[in-house]
Parts: sequence; structure tokens; C-alpha cells
Amino acid sequence: MNQLSSTFKIRNTTFKNRIIKGAMSEALANTAGEPNHLHLGLYEAWAKGGLGCAITGNVMVDFRAKNEPGVVVIETERDLAKLKQWAEVGKKHGMVQLIQLSHPGRQCPKGLNKETVAPSAVPFSPMLATTFATPRELTETEILDIIQRFANAAAICEKAGFEGVQLHGAHGYLISEFLSPLTNKRQDQWGGSIENRSRFLLEVYKAVRTATSKDFLVTVKLNSADFQRGGITEEEVIYVFKAIDEAGIDLIEISGGSYEAPAMAGVKADKRKQSTVAREAYFLDFAESIRKQVKCALMVTGGFRTAKGMNDALASGACDFIGLARPLAVETDLAHELIAGQNVKYAVKPIKTGIPMVDKMAIMEIIWYAAQFKTIAEGKAPNPKLSPLKVFFKYLKGNLTAVVKGQLNSRKSA
Ligand SMILES: Cc1cc2nc3c(=O)[nH]c(=O)nc-3n(C[C@H](O)[C@H](O)[C@H](O)COP(=O)(O)O)c2cc1C
Repeated sequence: MNQLSSTFKIRNTTFKNRIIKGAMSEALANTAGEPNHLHLGLYEAWAKGGLGCAITGNVMVDFRAKNEPGVVVIETERDLAKLKQWAEVGKKHGMVQLIQLSHPGRQCPKGLNKETVAPSAVPFSPMLATTFATPRELTETEILDIIQRFANAAAICEKAGFEGVQLHGAHGYLISEFLSPLTNKRQDQWGGSIENRSRFLLEVYKAVRTATSKDFLVTVKLNSADFQRGGITEEEVIYVFKAIDEAGIDLIEISGGSYEAPAMAGVKADKRKQSTVAREAYFLDFAESIRKQVKCALMVTGGFRTAKGMNDALASGACDFIGLARPLAVETDLAHELIAGQNVKYAVKPIKTGIPMVDKMAIMEIIWYAAQFKTIAEGKAPNPKLSPLKVFFKYLKGNLTAVVKGQLNSRKSA
């Protein structure tokens, strides 16, 4: 039986099938963080492709903390009209849309923001330190402000007509930085024990719930592990999953890793257990064990490539939804095809420029796919054979221009 095509209901929202597009940063906004017609074009292409749901690329809750120049920012109702159009694109084709709300914490490239903030002032490894600055430790007042920013942004998303939000609690972004003992060295109520380290996530969740109606979906993406020595332990991860489940979360998407250990992209694939390799998906074993301990819906993202692998994962009961990301950047009709029993056509390969220093960072993954999104958004067909080197040089040029413009503007306003 094709499990992929079965419906699923959470609160008052019915998902027409079990295929969800995982968040992928679109990099299509202007430097002010405004969404535009390109977002509408991209999401319309995915909606037409038959997805049950799309989770947007991460949307920032604080303009002072952007993870990349072209990211959308929601701080006020400035862009309500465009956001309404975006929400409408999904409704027109029966595709649920969740906005991924995010704060990148220390994972902001140098030069993009005035300063970088995080739970603690933990520096990056020497290689990544060339791209990412050592952050400044957040004050308690700032922590409380960020929690309110998540709530405020969620309320705007609901007003715009989105069915829900996803809190980005994975991949080394701020929420996950609070959870991990590697990046959270605080001695106050926000650090130390796992109860304290998960306080930020739980407070963000509660504030978002309070700011939105009972039908609004509040979901989260969490790491199954940091994939780094000294990171959050398995027992602590289970504690976090159970705590957010008990608090009332509607769905948890399971992922793993950070910019320092990009397990979400399968980079640690050789260290995976054989059984997981056979089942394609990177985090399915973890899903199977956590399934018994939480009642909310579960989604697993990372590595799914065949209709059989996805159907088997659903049939096993380990998860309720299949998350797909990179394959959808080159095959927008994939949901229809998978439901018809076909597999992903283009193999997802690491995006390599041939420059070792660049290829060791997660950045190439982000920008090569972003180039595909722009092409799709403009109504053209994506190009799976696009040259990574060409994309990298274009990115360098674009970033340099943004930084120079930013410096000129701040000099003008000083
Ligand atoms: C270009 C790109 C951008 C991404 N942006 C985000 C993001 O904004 N938020 C997030 O949680 N994950 C992001 N991811 C990770 C994906 O959601 C997903 O976890 C990962 O690609 C593994 O799934 P896949 O094997 O189906 O591609 C991104 C991945 C790519 C390739």
C-alpha cells in the first residue's frame, strides 16, 4: 500500500499526503529581508508538484541577526500583504505551509551583522573561525527579547494565513546552541543542567502558543545528536523531546548536526550504522526509539531517496511524515512522482568546487541550491548539472557587494 498518499490531520489542518518539503533557505529576499514575487513563484512550483506541506526556508526573527544576506525577516507587519500572497499560493493547491522561524545565534558569517550573539562566547574551530566570529554572550534581557520576537513573528505568520510555524531548534542555530553543552556554558537559569538548557526552547514554544490561536500549528526541528564529542547526550535529547511533547508541540522534525558537523547533509554518512544506510534516511533509528516516548507527530528528514524507503519508514511507524529537501531543488514534481511509485531521479551528491577549504564548509550546499531556487522561482527548469565553481564565484561577488554597501550605509547614518 502506498502510505505516502494517505492523509494526516493535526488540530484542524489536514495534510493531503505525507510528503513535506524540509526547510531550505531560499536566499531570495533583498537585504531588508522582504519576501517578493520570487518566493511566490518558487512555492507555487512546489505546490503544483503535489507536496502535502512545505516548510519555508528559515525566516529570521531579528534583523540584527541574519544568517545570510537574502533571508526573509519578520519583525513587524511591514510585509503582511506579500506574506498573505505567499500563504495563498499554498492554499490554492492544497499544500500546507509552515514558516520556519529562526535565530542563527553564532552561525552568522562575519561582516553581515554588526555583532554576533549566542548563549556563550564560544569560538569556532580555526577553519570555521575564518568565516564565523566568536559571539558575544547574550544578556538575560536580550534572551527575553528574542523569545518575544519568536512569538511576535508567529502571530504575524498566522495573520498572514499560514497554517503554522516551525521553530528552528536544530543545526547549531540559537535554540540548538542553548541545548548543547558545547555552545552553552552559562551559569544562570539558561545553562548548566539539561532542564536549564532546554528552558529557552520551552519558553519560545510557550510564548508562540500564547501569541497564536488554538488551531495554529506549532512545530519544531530538533537534532537527534550534535555529532560532536562532548555534545548533548542521547539521554538529554530524549529529555528535550519529551519535554516539548508534554508542553504540547504538534510535530517534531528530526535532524542532526551543525555547521561544524553537518550530519544533516549526510556528511558523517560513513559513521552511520549499517541498518540506517540500508534504510536511506540518516535519523530513522533515532526516530524509531523516540517514537515510543512521544505522542506528537514525527517527521524525519535527511537521505530519503526511494518511494520504497519512504513507504517502509511510514509503515514501520517510526514517523508520520517524510521530509525531503535537496531532491526538491532539482525536481519540483517529486511528490507526484513518488506517490506514483517512482524514485528520486538525480542523485544528491556533495557540492564540490575543487577548492578544499571551501568544500569543507557547509556553504556550498546552501548557495548551489539557492541558485536552483532562483531559477525555479523565475519559472524556468532547474539545472542539476550547474557548475559549483561558477556558483561560488558569483556568491563571493554578491557577498562582497552586500558587505561594502552595508559599510557605506552605516558610515552615512553614523
Ligand atoms: C540549500 C539548503 C538550505 C537549507 N536551509 C535550511 C534551513 O533554512 N533550515 C533548516 O532547518 N534546514 C535547512 N537545510 C537542511 C534541510 O532541511 C535538510 O535537513 C537536509 O538537506 C537533509 O535533507 P535531504 O537529504 O532531503 O536534503 C538546508 C539544506 C540545504 C541543502
